[in-house]
Amino acid sequence: MSTPALHDTSSKPLDTAWVREQFPSLKLQVNGQHAAFLDGPAGTQVPKQVMEAIHNYLLNANANTCGAFETSRRNDAIIDGARGAMADFFHCDKDEVVFGQNMTTITFALSRAIGRELKPGDEIVVTTLDHDANVAPWRALEEKGVVIRQVDIHEADCTLDLDDLRKKITAKTKLVAVGYASNAVGTINPVAEITRLAHAAGALMFIDAVHYAPHGPIDVRSLDCDFLACSPYKFFGPHMGTLYGKREHLLRFKPYKVRPAPDRLPDRWETGTQVQELIAGIGAAVDYIAELGRRCAPPARAGRTALLAAYKSTRQHEMALLSQLIPGLLAIPGLKFFGITDATRFDERCSTVSVRLANHTPTETAKFLGDRGIFTWDGNYYALNLTERLSVEQTGGLLRIGLVHYNTAEEVDRLLSGLREFAA
Ligand SMILES: Cc1ncc(COP(=O)(O)O)c(C=O)c1O
Repeated sequence: MSTPALHDTSSKPLDTAWVREQFPSLKLQVNGQHAAFLDGPAGTQVPKQVMEAIHNYLLNANANTCGAFETSRRNDAIIDGARGAMADFFHCDKDEVVFGQNMTTITFALSRAIGRELKPGDEIVVTTLDHDANVAPWRALEEKGVVIRQVDIHEADCTLDLDDLRKKITAKTKLVAVGYASNAVGTINPVAEITRLAHAAGALMFIDAVHYAPHGPIDVRSLDCDFLACSPYKFFGPHMGTLYGKREHLLRFKPYKVRPAPDRLPDRWETGTQVQELIAGIGAAVDYIAELGRRCAPPARAGRTALLAAYKSTRQHEMALLSQLIPGLLAIPGLKFFGITDATRFDERCSTVSVRLANHTPTETAKFLGDRGIFTWDGNYYALNLTERLSVEQTGGLLRIGLVHYNTAEEVDRLLSGLREFAA
């Protein structure tokens, strides 16, 4: 797998009861049924630690930055703490962490800045597997004469066609934009290897880690990528986006900014006033993962070691659920599965799957399940290149089931019986 090693900390099995206790919204009921949140790829639920941090911010530290009074100083300390937590999360330095509204907005801002230095005929490589937030911002540079090359997939298992990728990276390539994991079919891409290919051609590497972030640890140092973006609301935090950028690039490229705003890092990239109460929540989301790690592997005390221990346990739990889910899905008559099904290849995927039922649109299926308290997603989830390539875009796209560490075997059973009932 292209994931960084999950370190040698030995982790205990996940304490699901403790985990679920941390997420108050998991107790919600719909039509008399417990809500089963299988919609994590569209945004996860948040633990109470995150809610408390946002509440605490608004109560005790609600002020703008760098003021000469107490609540402003508290605000600055909270943002600094959250930045430190994200630096642990990415494995980088604090000044290489940029906060922003969401991954899409950050990536458009970055593409505009990088685009200032590109000339007609320069090339950017994108993929068929990616969310459009890692395609459209680069395609926007076609206005400047930049040529976009799109890497194909192997349709049979929805993995990237690496031979095609090698052909598409040329001496003219200035940037390669690839997702860490597909938000539609769960494929994990070999991003470390792709980064080496990009660098060998003298190109920059941008990784969209939005979908990967709740499933595995990110290590920008060992990946050696130039930029990596993700969205805390997909890993148990609030609705925001974050970017890692190598310091040399964050200093070299020129973002569009207002003149009085500081030119130092990372401020020059954080346009306008940030949603500071939510940044407080980002710090708490990373702290929650670290707390989980300390419970899974008590010797793992320091921030990053604890994060790695947490991911080791959550990955085991997610893979156990996946081993229950996929055979159950494949046994449903008329169900078509998109992506890797072979358990010996699970290291190439995460616990997000997409399917279609014969004679039913994904929306009809999602509605049937939703009425029974089982939350899935239908459509293209903005992975438009993929749904077009799989020829399902015209007929409603796909049905997505996303499992994260707070999901249970009982929820997977409920989903499978719901689908069996609907398909019958
Ligand atoms: C893989 C992937 N990339 C990018 C995005 C866009 O993220 P944001 O909503 O933070 O702009 C999403 C959102 O679903 C996603 O799943």
